[in-house]
Amino acid sequence: MYNFDEVTDRISEKCRKWNREIIEKNFGDVPKDYIPMWIADMDFKIPGEMKKAFNDAIERGVFGYTYCYEEFYEAVIDWQKEMHGVDIKKEWITLSYGTVSTIHYAIQAFCNAGDYIIMNTPVYDPFDAAASRQGVNRIYNSLLEVNGRYEIDFQSLKCQLEQYRPKLYLFCSPHNPSGRIWSIEELEEIARLCKKTDTILVVDEVHAEHIHYGRFNSVLRLESCMSNLILLSSPNKGFNLGGLKTSYSVIPDDSIRMLFRKMLEKNSITSPNVFGIIGLIAAYKECRQWLKEVNEYIKGNYELFESYIEKNIPNLRVMKMESSYLVWVDIKSTKLNSAEVTSVLATKVGVLVENGAHFVSDGEGYIRVNLGTQRRNVIEALERMKKVLGDE
Ligand SMILES: Cc1ncc(COP(=O)(O)O)c(C=O)c1O
Repeated sequence: MYNFDEVTDRISEKCRKWNREIIEKNFGDVPKDYIPMWIADMDFKIPGEMKKAFNDAIERGVFGYTYCYEEFYEAVIDWQKEMHGVDIKKEWITLSYGTVSTIHYAIQAFCNAGDYIIMNTPVYDPFDAAASRQGVNRIYNSLLEVNGRYEIDFQSLKCQLEQYRPKLYLFCSPHNPSGRIWSIEELEEIARLCKKTDTILVVDEVHAEHIHYGRFNSVLRLESCMSNLILLSSPNKGFNLGGLKTSYSVIPDDSIRMLFRKMLEKNSITSPNVFGIIGLIAAYKECRQWLKEVNEYIKGNYELFESYIEKNIPNLRVMKMESSYLVWVDIKSTKLNSAEVTSVLATKVGVLVENGAHFVSDGEGYIRVNLGTQRRNVIEALERMKKVLGDE
């Protein structure tokens, strides 16, 4: 049994999430005893199995240039097969330096300034930033909230795809910020529509390892989209390794893969980070039990969060967190906007959450709360949230 209640020293680690200067830049003056529930990383230690793999490397004591050795491919192939039930070939896999930078390279590889890309909103904002930085136009397909759950508006999606014929469709599966898991039928329909307009489907599956309700469906289960798919993944969310900046893509189609690799080569994205590749292999090969237990812990945090809010802060409404450790909360009944709620929580009671309006479009009226922390922080944050939002 791993102990996720153990308080970790995130100040010495110099992480962005807990750094006072960075926090003040984003939230203003906050009380000393702030509780960061914003940036998506977790406050938990890696398991001993992974620590040992890193320690062994430190003992060897030399950190020269490395390469993607066989165990890297094996780890990815076995993980995808055993966790997500998909068969991938070694040659489909390409290492990269983090999912966000890979999205940037994908846009550079397949779009020219003035082209279009499409995404469902609200969504993880680097999707939008990556496109805007390349001078690429963005089409937003608004998700519809139906009975407290996001649905894709396929009718408008079809029209937008036909009208703009975007080069890429950036799709987040499972969805950040809401945690929504997409059904195989939804994925099939997206793939079908993309085929018709020759749009490459870029699917970000980095949240696929934290599944709490239902079953995750990898887009790789769809035979139908093998010819126009770029899948992006990493152990960074699942195992909290974001700082190692190591990720990978899976591209079944030879010509798409070659074009994509050319762009990586142009930017000299070649050999991996020594620790990044060790972390990935250890995570995928040796840390499944840790993942299982961390998911149970996160689900426990979520259940506590959801029931506390239902009983004590009726102005807030929680969207069911089917996956991830990020919960999407409707704040419209508070009569404050997202920036105001975020600011009140930060400056009055030191609870630091993400302003929903930061999620590209359609996020106004929501906040996103990171539950990847010790339970005592969740309880304390809830009590503080009640103080400022409970009676509105
Ligand atoms: C949907 C999504 N993609 C990518 C990332 C970041 O991935 P990476 O650290 O590999 O760049 C995040 C982080 O929150 C995310 O939510």
